[in-house]
Amino acid sequence: MAEGVILELHRSSPNYAKLVDEMVRMERKIFPKNESLSRTFDQELGKNNSGLLYYGVNDEVAGYVMYSCPSSLSSSITKLAVKEKYRRLGYGEALLRAAIGKCRARSIHRISLHVDPSRTPAVNLYRKLGFRIDSLIERYYSSNRDAYRMYLEFDIDK
Ligand SMILES: CC(C)(COP(=O)(O)OP(=O)(O)OC[C@H]1O[C@@H](n2cnc3c(N)ncnc32)[C@H](O)[C@@H]1OP(=O)(O)O)[C@@H](O)C(=O)NCCC(=O)NCCS
Repeated sequence: MAEGVILELHRSSPNYAKLVDEMVRMERKIFPKNESLSRTFDQELGKNNSGLLYYGVNDEVAGYVMYSCPSSLSSSITKLAVKEKYRRLGYGEALLRAAIGKCRARSIHRISLHVDPSRTPAVNLYRKLGFRIDSLIERYYSSNRDAYRMYLEFDIDK
């Protein structure tokens, strides 16, 4: 069972530099170079329409989710990661639910994302929360790595 607290990261957050440093190290460890935001993490966070939620557990980052709302109609999940030792405890699901909640609060009715089809835990998690596969985009990440484009739609009246 996930413990701790989900917080939104802002440039004005206490310990901003330390937290970003921790997430950059996670990026390097978890994602291959061409998928990693480690070199542009701070820039991504500075973008007007981006947001980042992280799970703080015992003064440590258990996981984080980055999302972006470039228009009033659609948004995207740009990154989701949980530290290995905290996996299968519900942190990923809680983070994704929280990010979906943030997007819904902006009256957005479609969230999309890209995921490598071989990332079974992530694909299962997205499906569990209602995302559907839209298409397979060949060579999205690199010459031999494709991506599923997935989306979740809401009825904006609900
Ligand atoms: C994907 C990821 C974020 C899941 O985080 P997590 O905290 O372990 O996930 P949860 O414990 O919240 O699990 C929620 C659901 O995800 C799916 N899932 C998680 N781990 C799984 C696994 N090892 N195998 C199959 N399904 C899995 C299941 O549907 C699970 O629901 P269930 O518990 O009812 O079966 C984590 O595995 C991760 O960081 N992976 C590497 C990075 C990545 O692939 N990111 C996504 C692409 S950007």
